[in-house]
Amino acid sequence: MAHNLSREEIEYFKDSRGTLGVLDFNKLPFLPRRIYWIKDSPENVTRGAHAHKLLNQVFLVLSGSVMIDTFKGLEKQSFNLIAEGPVLMLEPGCWRDIKLLTPDSLLLVLCDREYEESDYIREWEDYLEWFKANEP
Ligand code: TYD
Repeated sequence: MAHNLSREEIEYFKDSRGTLGVLDFNKLPFLPRRIYWIKDSPENVTRGAHAHKLLNQVFLVLSGSVMIDTFKGLEKQSFNLIAEGPVLMLEPGCWRDIKLLTPDSLLLVLCDREYEESDYIREWEDYLEWFKANEP
């Protein structure tokens, strides 16, 4: 449900002019329909704090460091994503809490569906209830 993709999804071309990173969408488990990004999140602020019923997402840190705590029901798994490290795949049904750890952190999120508020579960108690009814 939440797992790191291998490092090979992104290729980096480094030379004296800097670094160029490439992500070919053919290497993802889905074709993105939407991207969004999060930056300038103050220290100790938690974002996310929701689950999706249908949405698949890939989380990619372009700079800095981001902590993503994922929950499959009560089962917790934490991922510290850093620039040029593995990217994180989150399948539907996972709760996530997100913290940008450094002021330069930039988190890019790729999604397989358009934005739909009805796809969100924003209350933890509602999530646990939904998970019990829908767990695989
Ligand atoms: P929110 O879901 O609260 O951000 P996060 O959970 O990642 O901390 O979204 C913040 C605001 O942005 C909220 O008003 C909904 C809006 N939004 C869109 O309009 N479209 C989008 O694709 C996303 C991700 C958010």
